Amino acid sequence: MNLKNKNTILITGGSGFIGSSFSKFFKKKYDIYTLDKKKKNQFLKDTYIQHVKCDLCNYEKLEKKIRDIRPSIIIHLAAQSTIDFIETKEKDYLRDNIFATENIVKLSIKYNIKKFIFSSTAAVYKANKNKLSEADKILPNNIYGKTKKINENFIIKHLSNSKVKFCILRFFNVCSSLDKTIGEFHNPETHLIPKVIHALNKNKKIYIYGNNFKTSDGTCLRDYIHIKDIVIGINKSISYLNKKKFGVFNLGSGQAISVKEIVMYASNMIKKKPKISIKNNRKGDNDKLVCKILKAKRKLRWFPKYSNIKSIVKDEISWQTYLERKKLQRSFHNK
Ligand SMILES: NC(=O)c1ccc[n+]([C@@H]2O[C@H](COP(=O)([O-])OP(=O)(O)OC[C@H]3O[C@@H](n4cnc5c(N)ncnc54)[C@H](O)[C@@H]3O)[C@@H](O)[C@H]2O)c1
Repeated sequence: MNLKNKNTILITGGSGFIGSSFSKFFKKKYDIYTLDKKKKNQFLKDTYIQHVKCDLCNYEKLEKKIRDIRPSIIIHLAAQSTIDFIETKEKDYLRDNIFATENIVKLSIKYNIKKFIFSSTAAVYKANKNKLSEADKILPNNIYGKTKKINENFIIKHLSNSKVKFCILRFFNVCSSLDKTIGEFHNPETHLIPKVIHALNKNKKIYIYGNNFKTSDGTCLRDYIHIKDIVIGINKSISYLNKKKFGVFNLGSGQAISVKEIVMYASNMIKKKPKISIKNNRKGDNDKLVCKILKAKRKLRWFPKYSNIKSIVKDEISWQTYLERKKLQRSFHNK
């Protein structure tokens, strides 16, 4: 606990996209420690956001870090989370999602953490042509969703009988940039929006995986949520736990956007014609994954403000312009 009586937050996976964005946005409100098996996020320049390099699977080291830091809140974001290399990464999923989550949950109970926030995903749901609500059937069809379902059940089982208050947040497609100097930067980048903007800027091919889905233009419908709305949503869930013990919430925009719509919108904004190449559907991709956000609106008082296609694409373009100017490169998963 620090002298200014700010809450101390430990963010696992804090070097990643969402953890680093939350840290930057709320650096004045909280005393923040990012914890990750990687080094501190390169875009998080603030020296008073402290970083701890630690693998969550190393229980002894993790325990020592928690004992030293004594956080009152843990935001657990660390995970393997892309579905692109899924077949070759099964062991990593089991390790970084299941084993790592079990460790942090056990230690949260042991060290009387007051609030625990878990990042789950849209991928836990059984796909549905209707918008998904929190009460809908949980039936994941890929290993990523399956490990998150196991995490959710473990958390509910163990934290319900403890003093730790907790929220499970099911994020939909988180995207774009928090500001011009920090945004989505996976390496390799597998997510649609950064790939589309990059391909347009560099006159490269844009690969669309499947155009025979049961949707109006044949491409997948997804729910894109701006990173700024996500970090605000996470913070709302922390406040929610002041009075409540537990909650499960979808955090999405509630709006369906197709892959093709993203490509055409970005191409109009950048004023370049897209070179589209249609590839086979990816294993486990569903026609539509879009959520209802009524529960989050009512109970968290969370109303996404930035998750419209215009802000999402515009902010991603500014972010990639910054990366280009700084000559910061990553690889793009383009096959
Ligand atoms: N980005 C999205 O669109 C999205 C959507 C739904 C859910 N989520 C969930 O939100 C969370 C954060 O997503 P993100 O986009 O920031 O991911 P990210 O890949 O950018 O960050 C995850 C971080 O976790 C770290 N990590 C993984 N295993 C670890 C371990 N064993 N010990 C310590 N650190 C470890 C990685 O090094 C990485 O920095 C993930 O749990 C993800 O499943 C993300």
